[in-house]
Amino acid sequence: MSALRLTVMVQLVAALVAAPASSEPLANDGAGRALYVQYCGACHGETGEGRGHLESILSVQPVDLTRLKKARGADYSLESLLRSIDGRGPFPGHTDSEMPVWGEVFLKDPSAPTADQIQAAGKLLLITYYVDSLQKD
Ligand code: HEC
Repeated sequence: MSALRLTVMVQLVAALVAAPASSEPLANDGAGRALYVQYCGACHGETGEGRGHLESILSVQPVDLTRLKKARGADYSLESLLRSIDGRGPFPGHTDSEMPVWGEVFLKDPSAPTADQIQAAGKLLLITYYVDSLQKD
């Protein structure tokens, strides 16, 4: 990841974290869900629990995205979730599995204009917040 892209990402995360507590939760905003359904639903299912229509042809079963917090315990954080989704994840198996590396899907060219980088980072963050909102205790 280029320094610029990282900087943009960090600034976006900071802006989102600093959002007023009284505002609607970002994760429930339709954009996060719409992006999730578009890019993730085929494998992880509408609810995140699996059973997407592509699941039967995958050799590795997609994880239940509603149980990540429970499975990871103290290692679960928004940042670790974002890293799993964009392909920098600390969790094993991710990059050589059938799970697409979303950081590359959304932004193939690291020298792309800043506006494109912001859009890619925004999509990743909206999806990350949405998946975070799916977590069950
Ligand atoms: C082509 C099928 C496919 C699609 C589409 C897909 N995934 Fe996955 N995903 C998988 C599989 C298979 C695994 C389990 C194997 C693994 O962890 O690498 C997985 C694992 C994960 C994990 C756990 C990874 C880890 O590091 O433990 C997360 C988080 C995740 N997916 C989120 C998403 C999100 C968010 C999207 C949409 C942006 C998405 N996935 C789209 C197949 C898919």
